[in-house]
Amino acid sequence: MVLSSAPGKCILFGEHAVVYGQPAVAVAIDARIQVSLEESDSGWLIDGMSFDKQRHPHLDAMLKRMWTGDGGRPLSVNIESELFGAAGLGSSAAICSAVAAGLLNLRGTPADELPLSGIATTAHLAEAEAQGGRASPIDTSTATLGGAVLVSDKKETLADWQYTRDLRIDGQRRTWEVHKVELPQSISEASLVIGFSGRPGPTAQMVAKVAALLSNEPERMADIERIGNVTRAGTTALSLGNLQAVGIAMNECHRLLQGLGVSDDDLDRMVDAALPSSLGAKLTGAGGGGCMIALTTEPRRTAEEIELVGGRTMVSRLGAPGVRIETSD
Ligand code: MEV
Repeated sequence: MVLSSAPGKCILFGEHAVVYGQPAVAVAIDARIQVSLEESDSGWLIDGMSFDKQRHPHLDAMLKRMWTGDGGRPLSVNIESELFGAAGLGSSAAICSAVAAGLLNLRGTPADELPLSGIATTAHLAEAEAQGGRASPIDTSTATLGGAVLVSDKKETLADWQYTRDLRIDGQRRTWEVHKVELPQSISEASLVIGFSGRPGPTAQMVAKVAALLSNEPERMADIERIGNVTRAGTTALSLGNLQAVGIAMNECHRLLQGLGVSDDDLDRMVDAALPSSLGAKLTGAGGGGCMIALTTEPRRTAEEIELVGGRTMVSRLGAPGVRIETSD
C-alpha cells in the first residue's frame, strides 16, 4: 500500500493568459489531496466502489499512461481531499501528481528519488486530456514542485528555470518554461484567505469561453498581454517580499479578468468584502464560480468579511511542500 499526497494551489497572477504563453505564478497551499493505492483482488475500486471512468477522467487518464498500458494489476484507489472541490484550487492536478508519485513508488521508485519533472509531465498530459485538450502546466507543476511556481512561454530571469513542457492546443504547439520562485522569509508575514462561493468553477468551459472571445475579438489579445506584464511586476514584488506591490498586481489582475468575462457576482462580492482588510484580492483559477483569494496580514478579519457575504473560507500560507510519499509498505 502506498499513501501519497500533493498540495492544491492558488494562482496569484496570470490565469487564462498562461494558456496563451504569458507568465503566471501559483503558490502551493496547505490543503492537500491524499491518494492511497493498493493492489486489489476484487477488481478496480475507487473509494470502495467500482471504478466509473466518466466520473474520474483524470484518474483514468493517469492509469492509462502509467499503469494499465504496462499490464499493471487492478488497484483499489482512495482519494481524500482537504480542498473545496471543483473550485479552481487545482484538485484534479493534485490528484494526477499524487497518483503518479504513488504508482512510481508501487513500481519501486524510492520516495526520495521521485522524478519531479517526469511526474509533472505525465500529470500535465493527463490533465489536458481530461480538460478537453487545453491546459497549461501551472496546476500540475505547482502540485508537483510545491512552493511558488512561475510558468511562461520563455525562460524568465525572474525565477529559477526547472524544465520545459509542451502541448499541441488548437493545432498549435505551445511551449512553457517552468520555474520556481524563491520566496523571501518576510512572505510569512502575510496569509492567503481563500473564499469559495460554493458554486463550482467549470475550468474547461471558462477556458473555452476566453478562447471564443479571443477568436471573435482578436484585439482582446492585448488584455492577455497586459495580464502578462502585471504578472512580471507581481513576480518581482513577490521575490522581493514587497507585499503592498503584490497586492496591487493582484487587484489589477482581477480587473483584467473581469474584462475577459470570467468573474461573476459572487466572486466580485467576496473580493470587495475582502479589500478593506487586505493588501489585494482577486478571483483565482478559471473563474465563473470557484474561489477568490485575498492577501492579508489580518487573516481572521478578512475571513470573517468574506463569510459575511456568503463565502466559505480557508487560510493558507504562501507556498507548501509539493508531491510526496507519506507512507509505503
Ligand atoms: C486553471 O487553474 C487556470 C487556467 O489558466 C487554465 C490553465 O492554466 O490550464 C484558467
